[in-house]
Amino acid sequence: MTQDPPDLAQLKTDLLAALEVATSLDALEAVRVHALGKNGVITGLLKTLGAMSPEERKSEGPRINGLRSEIAGEIDAKKAALQSDELDSRIATESIDLSLPPREAVQGSVHPVSQVMDELAEIFADLGFAVATGPEIEDDWHNFTALNIPESHPARAMHDTFYFPEGAGEDAKPMLLRTHTSPVQVRTMTAQKPPLRIIAPGRTYRSDSDATHTPMFHQVEGLVIDRDITMGHLKWSLETFVKAFFERNDIVLRFRPSYFPFTEPSAEVDVGYSLENGRRIIGGDPHGENGGWMEILGSGMVNRRVIEACDLDPDEWQGFAFGCGIDRLAMLKYGMDDLRAFFDGDLRWLKHYGFSALDVPTLSGGVGA
Ligand code: DAH
Repeated sequence: MTQDPPDLAQLKTDLLAALEVATSLDALEAVRVHALGKNGVITGLLKTLGAMSPEERKSEGPRINGLRSEIAGEIDAKKAALQSDELDSRIATESIDLSLPPREAVQGSVHPVSQVMDELAEIFADLGFAVATGPEIEDDWHNFTALNIPESHPARAMHDTFYFPEGAGEDAKPMLLRTHTSPVQVRTMTAQKPPLRIIAPGRTYRSDSDATHTPMFHQVEGLVIDRDITMGHLKWSLETFVKAFFERNDIVLRFRPSYFPFTEPSAEVDVGYSLENGRRIIGGDPHGENGGWMEILGSGMVNRRVIEACDLDPDEWQGFAFGCGIDRLAMLKYGMDDLRAFFDGDLRWLKHYGFSALDVPTLSGGVGA
């Protein structure tokens, strides 16, 4: 005696109705278990196939399996819809109000590089300098050619430049990661009318890596363009800056003749250091026992070819420029000895060397306070 074939149509209607009213992932799971779980109704029907005669199995097998895959498909679709609804409602409810004050005491700290950049801006603002910026992805003309570094110039090789593989800049040469902040001189001279007084702190890149070099590092550029500017202005400005930065008046600078394509004449500037309580500090007598000189920046009078490249008349406008490594300034002032640690993101290092976010440098407070 064979059983009547089960009423699959009714079962399907019931299951679809149950799916319809399942409005949460939990409810949906309950329907799935009821239908397709180990003891589910469809699973139960599948088990009856084994006891059927071959003819019966031939007709019932496809019906039951068809129902199984249809219901499984409906469950999957419903699950996807519920998950996306759930995400939508989470996004709608979990908003964050960034303007609310923190509940815990302030934990973050200002990185020494940011701190030094703020100090530089503060010191130079007092001397009438604005802060200028330029792109880190630079073209060949701004990074080299306009700065009097033509294609064949050996200074190009010294820059260990990162070039982009393909894709050309406006001048049909590959774009590059700027190797110094000097292109901001060009961008400022071509965008604004002189007189100009700017500093340009920012990231720079060279393919170089050891204890004192990282592929990404920071520089600050300084530029003054005006009438009748002389080396005297350069010397006074740098002395004033270095004394304010290291917060000491007994600092001596030494200007050494040097060469940069974008300045003529050029000078490298050394700062005098001395030994205080067994520690090397900037300031004091460089001629005393264990004293000496440390190079801190490059500078000079802006080469007239650079002024011409920026479409200004070099007989009317002159100026001075300087470029200085910010990371090195930070190391000299705050006593770190490995540059690489600057970019490791180690929270212990940041806690030790970082600055309070609420402690903004001011000249009156001592910039490093
Ligand atoms: N751009 C130079 C460098 O990266 C630094 C420099 C030297 C900048 C002399 C200047 C300058 O503006 O006058 O090594």
